[in-house]
Amino acid sequence: MKYIINSTSDYHQHDLNSLGWELTVCNSLEPVNCPCRKILASPFSFGRHLYNFLKKMIPFDEIHNILEIGGGMGYLMRDLLTLNPQMRAKMIDISPYLLDRQKETLKAFNADFELADILAVDHASFSVFDLAMMNENLGDLPTLVAGQANDDHSESATVRVLERLEHFKNKYNLPVGLKESEHINIGAMEIVEKLCVTGIKYIYLSEHSCEAVVPEIIKPYLTLPSSGIPEMISLKGHKEFTIKFSYLQKIAEVLHYKTRRGPFADFLPLNLSDKVKIALRLATPYNDEQEIIRQFVYDLYKYEYLILIKGDE
Ligand SMILES: C[S@@+](CC[C@H](N)C(=O)[O-])C[C@H]1O[C@@H](n2cnc3c(N)ncnc32)[C@H](O)[C@@H]1O
Repeated sequence: MKYIINSTSDYHQHDLNSLGWELTVCNSLEPVNCPCRKILASPFSFGRHLYNFLKKMIPFDEIHNILEIGGGMGYLMRDLLTLNPQMRAKMIDISPYLLDRQKETLKAFNADFELADILAVDHASFSVFDLAMMNENLGDLPTLVAGQANDDHSESATVRVLERLEHFKNKYNLPVGLKESEHINIGAMEIVEKLCVTGIKYIYLSEHSCEAVVPEIIKPYLTLPSSGIPEMISLKGHKEFTIKFSYLQKIAEVLHYKTRRGPFADFLPLNLSDKVKIALRLATPYNDEQEIIRQFVYDLYKYEYLILIKGDE
């Protein structure tokens, strides 16, 4: 099987100067009066919703050191530190532009910042953290794109990555690479293994999923293509791939973590009002608000979270 490595690091390091092109669910819930907040059961920010959900599983009074990888504008961490000010945060991001935005958003809080590609950071340094978060960014990490030949420059890098692929197949008994057209989220697999091997007690991950499922009640209003194989998404200046969460879950379970997984709608509950139903049923939306609602509801089910809790020794 031939692969090339899809990397977004050049884009994030040198070209990214706005997240406006890539509106995350977190950012789409930021404006207080935005249409997305109004169609949820309660009109809170993303971070407040997520905190209320996580606190049922994570004893936040025991969390002192929190790591966020790829924190974008810093809004999620701002909410977490507001709700639990005893925590000290570390933000690691590959993008100088976004790390500066995070410094601005978090200037009133107890936070440290590091400019780095998370896959190049020595994972031994993670052991001080009680909780690690990666929101909507696993798809930015390298993906092996199937069926394409290599150029000479990247050949040795690809050989190293293929050795890592063999490691994941053998250690975690994953059927990776059996299908000709299967792209592989090798970077996401690497980071999940790194975080778990370090023994961080609580880990939260999320991203668009290639295994997303629409619940029965939403099926009349929403069709969600989910091939089960990482799907390519073309964005400004780079490409990303949806995530095969079942592989990440398996890696964590082998490393003795309990797992919980589901759609964003679990912690961002939708109020399925007539207004929302109409927006979803239209073949073509009539206005911007309907367009925003359609995209947001799609994201509520296309994005999955994966919570990992280290089991007792
Ligand atoms: C799509 S944005 C998500 C931002 C934020 N978590 C949110 O939900 O709004 C992806 C984030 O991950 C960061 N990122 C991408 N690749 C990274 C890497 N290899 N190491 C560290 N950060 C990375 C980007 O710079 C950006 O902050």
